[in-house]
Amino acid sequence: MSQFYSLKVNQIKKETHDSVSVSFEIESKLVNDFKFIPGQYITIKININGEDCRRSYSICSSSNEKLTVAIKKVPNGKMSNFINNKLKTGDFIDVSTPEGNFKLENIDSSNNRKFVAFAAGSGITPILSMIKEINLKEKNTQFLLFYSNKTSNDVMFKSEINSLLNDNFSVKYIYTREETDLELYNGRIDENKTTQLLKSEMSFLNADGFYLCGPEEMIFSAKKVLESFDISNEKINFELFTTPVLEKQESISSVNENDFSGSSNVTVICDDEEVEFSLDTSGESILDAAMEQDLDVPFSCKGAVCCTCKAKVKTGKVTMDANYALSEQEVDEGYILACQAHPASTDVTIDFDY
Ligand SMILES: Cc1cc2nc3c(=O)[nH]c(=O)nc-3n(C[C@H](O)[C@H](O)[C@H](O)COP(=O)(O)OP(=O)(O)OC[C@H]3O[C@@H](n4cnc5c(N)ncnc54)[C@H](O)[C@@H]3O)c2cc1C
Ligand code: FES
Repeated sequence: MSQFYSLKVNQIKKETHDSVSVSFEIESKLVNDFKFIPGQYITIKININGEDCRRSYSICSSSNEKLTVAIKKVPNGKMSNFINNKLKTGDFIDVSTPEGNFKLENIDSSNNRKFVAFAAGSGITPILSMIKEINLKEKNTQFLLFYSNKTSNDVMFKSEINSLLNDNFSVKYIYTREETDLELYNGRIDENKTTQLLKSEMSFLNADGFYLCGPEEMIFSAKKVLESFDISNEKINFELFTTPVLEKQESISSVNENDFSGSSNVTVICDDEEVEFSLDTSGESILDAAMEQDLDVPFSCKGAVCCTCKAKVKTGKVTMDANYALSEQEVDEGYILACQAHPASTDVTIDFDY
């Protein structure tokens, strides 16, 4: 389970008209806790107007830089507007240790691999971390990035990305609301556009991994097209920043059918504390029910897209409404997203300490 620590904001930098990057000072005693794999995220916890707000942000730095995240304003968004408009250098805020399954692993100088990423808007953040780390530690590996934005003014980290270009790293900027010379690079990344883009770079179809981060339409279109090119699911990694509204059925691992009805005795363990309560299978989530018992359980999105609320079923059965974050293997091993979980047997014990 990830832990929150109070970190000092070291630098806030305006990246575009509607986004900033925020770097943190990490005390030497916490350096190990904040080690991360490129692609992972941290969760920021701030009390905004009396409300305990928690939101996840992908790390966009490499391991040799200060831990940095970048936040794009969402219209009327609580946390993104607070960070863009109110947060100041020198402030201390609660930041969780890194976590998440969207990651580019086993980076090693002897590797000679190929990766393709599709990013849109703020979805560049985890991909930028991967590109920088590869550029730093795996110089023979090729990386191809398709990066979509409304216009060239909306591109986050444009000069940084361009400064990384070399024989092994290339980027194709795609604009949805700005004409470019090549028709291929105009328009939304839907199924048709993904097909055209992949066909224009056929030598990358045998890549070792494909990373997708952006709005659900782009992610699910790209995933579908990659599958139609016979690319195995194990190679396709995606990170959603918001809970899908269109494609509920695209959960990455099966969400069990519930053949149990009625009330269960639920025990929840977190940070060595234990609470017990009765919960109906059709009632609120186990996470919400545990919070009502004043247990300090971890959460962020409450929408099945991060894995901050990951817990393990120790006894009994549990079903989930949706899952876009845990791998099939984790589900098989008994892990659940507590914010999506409902009891499905008479007695259930779930453990956040695993
Ligand atoms: C694993 C993970 C990593 C993330 N990494 C980043 C990152 O690197 N950079 C970043 O800027 N954001 C990132 N996010 C999104 C971030 O956590 C927040 O959801 C986002 O900043 C909006 O929070 P808010 O409090 O401002 O908006 P809220 O007050 O939560 O929402 C306000 C309204 O905007 C809608 N909304 C929320 N988020 C979005 C969105 N992203 N796009 C469009 N509409 C939205 C909501 O449905 C709601 O109607 C990530 C999310 C996850 C789950
Ligand atoms: S809190 Fe994000 S998946 Fe449960």
